[in-house]
Amino acid sequence: MSKNSLSTFDVAIIGGGPGGYVAAIRCAQLGLNTALVEKRKALGGTCLNVGCIPSKALLHTSEQYAFAKGHAADAGIEIGGEVSLNLDTVMKKKEKVVAQLTGGVDMLVKKRGITRFNGHGKLLGDGKIVIGDSEEISATHIILATGSAPVELPFMPFDGETIVSSDQAIAFDTVPESLVVIGGGAIGLELGSVWARYGSKVTVLEFLPHIAAGFDDDVSKFLERCFKKQGLDIHTNTKVTGAKEIDNKLHVTAERKGKEIAVPADKVLVSVGRKPYTESLGLENVGLSPDQRGFIEVDDHFKTSVPGIYAIGDIVRGPMLAHKAEEEGVALAELIAGKAGHVNYDVIPNVIYTEPEASSVGLTEAQANEKDVAINVGKFPLAANGRAIASDATEGLVKIVACAKTDKILGAQIVAKGASELISEVVTHMEYGGSAEDLGRTIHAHPTLSESVKEAGLAVSKTAIHSL
Ligand code: NAI
Repeated sequence: MSKNSLSTFDVAIIGGGPGGYVAAIRCAQLGLNTALVEKRKALGGTCLNVGCIPSKALLHTSEQYAFAKGHAADAGIEIGGEVSLNLDTVMKKKEKVVAQLTGGVDMLVKKRGITRFNGHGKLLGDGKIVIGDSEEISATHIILATGSAPVELPFMPFDGETIVSSDQAIAFDTVPESLVVIGGGAIGLELGSVWARYGSKVTVLEFLPHIAAGFDDDVSKFLERCFKKQGLDIHTNTKVTGAKEIDNKLHVTAERKGKEIAVPADKVLVSVGRKPYTESLGLENVGLSPDQRGFIEVDDHFKTSVPGIYAIGDIVRGPMLAHKAEEEGVALAELIAGKAGHVNYDVIPNVIYTEPEASSVGLTEAQANEKDVAINVGKFPLAANGRAIASDATEGLVKIVACAKTDKILGAQIVAKGASELISEVVTHMEYGGSAEDLGRTIHAHPTLSESVKEAGLAVSKTAIHSL
């Protein structure tokens, strides 16, 4: 196909992240002639290139390093000589992981017969898209899946060197002596953990009364205790006000309980959220305008106000999560193909990949109370789980929130080693409308950490076996 003449597609997708490339694959599976426009060389978006995947590679290697340096001896593993870090090798390993996965997506896209365009896509109107300066394509259906970008603090703009976003904090070439993390959400806690394990003095400044907003207070307090034990200096109720030089050293200034504090920083990671990315997308050419926060409004079928243009992922309502974007991509492809695509927004799991990990799904206890839903809550501590004791993984708890009237599971929060995997069974129970009793009566292999999820299900009716 000549790319100089106007190529026409059933569907053209702008953005090759988890929302866009998954939508493209599902479209192709359904027989739609599909184009995928991505400005990065590699597909996979933020998630594969600079987000979820590289950060998980760093979390993994830093955890191994911390174990070798700290706890190996307690486990009876004597490591002769000093344990030292080769950050260059760490980063190369991370880059290899990213290359393997982005290469895999590239191969999948090619094999499905999806036409890939490398360049910045811009809407022109009348179903047309211009890629780069001149190349034009047209499509009956256009899907916008352009993702999000880090939020900048107006008084502390990113400089890419000292004041950085996660894009740079996954790629420092030396371990900063001191790292100030602004924002105690998923990014701040994950990357704060990575650099603390590698030896940085990490200080987390969080505006709200608790880190890990979105979890119940008892759960986030528990997490805070875990991270403090690991050496993270966490200040909540702390409003960052700026940065200034004191004695030739950069300090981040903040207000805490009416007092000003100044924390020295070799690097500052600003992780205060992400914003929808629709820059230079040509929205004005088709008569689309984002809302005040930059989101594009869509209906239940991902239709924007402009016929033939749809939007999914981080640029529309809902959590900014790769798996949410993927499901929207699948559902929208099916809807375009005349099938019944659907996303269940009530059961989207959320994970913070620290050690221990924290995961959640559905309603928290506080949210259920706010909605005036009568609930029963079951809790089980990992400290009472045999496998956890045998594996030195007793830091954690499972909390199940169930409807008092029907016993249907409404939500769960898990703090545990591997909480990201443990949450899946609760998600599945919820997807099928399962009750806490269903969870509690489901046979779990012994000894496993997952028995603590079963026990929390039983604890909802005060029938847990291994706790009082
Ligand atoms: P976030 O929204 O999760 O957390 C930001 C935190 O910064 C909040 O606790 C907020 O109260 C605090 N904050 C905001 N302004 C502040 C200020 N001026 N001073 C101090 N604290 C301030 O945002 P984050 O961690 O940057 O993540 C962005 C998005 O990416 C989120 O939607 C998150 O779900 C997603 N993500 C998900 C991951 C995962 O699933 N594990 C990993 C990384 C990102």
